[in-house]
Amino acid sequence: MDARPIGMFDSGFGGLTVARAVMDLLPSEDLVYLGDTARYPYGSRSIEQVSGYASQIAEHLVSSHDAKLIVVACNTASAAALDHLGEVVDVPVVGVIEPGVRALRAATLTGRVGVIGTVGTISSGAYQRALEELAATGQDAGPELAAVACPGFVEFVERGEFDGVEVHVLAQRLLAPVAEAKVDTLLLGCTHYPYLARTISDVLGADVMLVSSADETAFEVRRLIAQTGVGNDPDHTGVHRFETTGDVNRFEQLGRELLGPELREAAQVELA
Ligand code: DGL
Repeated sequence: MDARPIGMFDSGFGGLTVARAVMDLLPSEDLVYLGDTARYPYGSRSIEQVSGYASQIAEHLVSSHDAKLIVVACNTASAAALDHLGEVVDVPVVGVIEPGVRALRAATLTGRVGVIGTVGTISSGAYQRALEELAATGQDAGPELAAVACPGFVEFVERGEFDGVEVHVLAQRLLAPVAEAKVDTLLLGCTHYPYLARTISDVLGADVMLVSSADETAFEVRRLIAQTGVGNDPDHTGVHRFETTGDVNRFEQLGRELLGPELREAAQVELA
């Protein structure tokens, strides 16, 4: 038995989609979630800068909270930092890209798939590489991927605007290449995007299946906990702590709306 919490972070509210899935799948695990809302968005920043933030937060989660594993609940940070976070902290680190790609492959029927994400994630080529690597281990050639950046989506979510006219107009413009590629499945390759699912689906039509990495990431966490023997007492009721580098009231208000009643309060942290 290992009562240490799972540590998780994102640039802001997006990772709460992953937190929800982990809390539902692993109700006896404690969780510390940090939303770096003072420094969001990550998607328009350089890889070096995002990688630095990710290292700093992972260190904080381990040194201040004794996290037993870290979930990088952000595609941009996973793309920028997953490779080296294992050298920064001495606990296992789980990202969202590989789980997302697994979900995408499992869902497609036609083999024509898309991924949307921040400029940082898409331009890093991380999804293209992850699909190629997975295809190399399998029998088939792997799906054909349309990878499209959606700058501006994250800002709408952080403002709590999920389905207004403005975001709809933006979605129509940004998703045009996805519609043209005639994909049957679209991976929401940014943890903020599930909150825009209705708008995205309205634009692309009901024939395009939307998948997110949240559930698959939660399964990966469960697998890793079982494998390394660090599960908490199954009779324990998970305690969830939320932290933000930004405005606490705002984080509590919008966070509760997005995650649910478990987000009763948040604490302010300052990262040096
Ligand atoms: N949720 C982050 C991601 O998955 C958003 C990045 C941002 O802050 O731009 O990429």
